[in-house]
Amino acid sequence: MSKNNSVILSVKNLTVYYGVVKALENASFEVHPNEIVAMIGPNGAGKSTALKVVSGVLPATDGEIRTGEIEFDGKNIKGLRTDQLVHLGMTLLPEGRRVFKNMTVRENLEMGGYIRNDKKEVRNDIDRILEFFPQLKERTKQRAGTLSGGEQQMLALGRSLMLKPKLLLADEPSLGLSPNYVDILFDKLVEINKNGTSILLVEQNAMMALEICHRAYVYEIGKIVLDGDRESLVGDERVKKAYLGG
Ligand SMILES: Nc1ncnc2c1ncn2[C@@H]1O[C@H](COP(=O)(O)OP(=O)(O)O)[C@@H](O)[C@H]1O
Ligand SMILES: [Mg+2]
Repeated sequence: MSKNNSVILSVKNLTVYYGVVKALENASFEVHPNEIVAMIGPNGAGKSTALKVVSGVLPATDGEIRTGEIEFDGKNIKGLRTDQLVHLGMTLLPEGRRVFKNMTVRENLEMGGYIRNDKKEVRNDIDRILEFFPQLKERTKQRAGTLSGGEQQMLALGRSLMLKPKLLLADEPSLGLSPNYVDILFDKLVEINKNGTSILLVEQNAMMALEICHRAYVYEIGKIVLDGDRESLVGDERVKKAYLGG
């Protein structure tokens, strides 16, 4: 089996410093096509750093500051910018609900299609996304800033889907949402995955993440200490103790 065909994202031995602070040491992880892969672990463990390097938010440059190999869809993507990665089919749903608060729901979705020239297709996709998020459909003319937190997160997610990503990176998407919206969000992630998008999910809600993922990586400060498929991790004593309340 060719490695390139079975891996959409491959990260090897990633080490990241902020100045003299080592945020991540020798982290290796991968995402296979059609997988949901979760990354769980305490605050400050380096999970967001990993996502930021992969998605080009933090430039991954060779040398003593940041080392490691990152391949997406068979290509070396080290050093590529976020906008270049978006063209290749990778999008990041960043931490915090980043919507354009003064723009309407529809305008936010239009912004999501900004790199695309096929305006008619963009309109069709907006309609498709509004069907997918009925909470937004009734509010297309409402300013995003007036939506509830849960609705804003749906909008941020909808906007990232406008780019039709092969791989969606999501950083703590459930943070600060009401329990009702946490459920909706996770259902949506499962559905998005079934429609063919691979997902790399960083979550403080380990219980929920382990419910929907296929595989997961467990972080401790600056390191990945454990990984495996869902079943093996849910059954692991260390994971149970630290994350699953038993
Ligand atoms: N911009 C930054 N400058 C300096 N240190 C940072 C910066 N961002 C994160 N860190 C540090 O890097 C480590 C990992 O942080 P982060 O990747 O945000 O962890 P997590 O997402 O797992 O909570 C922490 O010690 C954090 O304080
Ligand atoms: Mg984080």
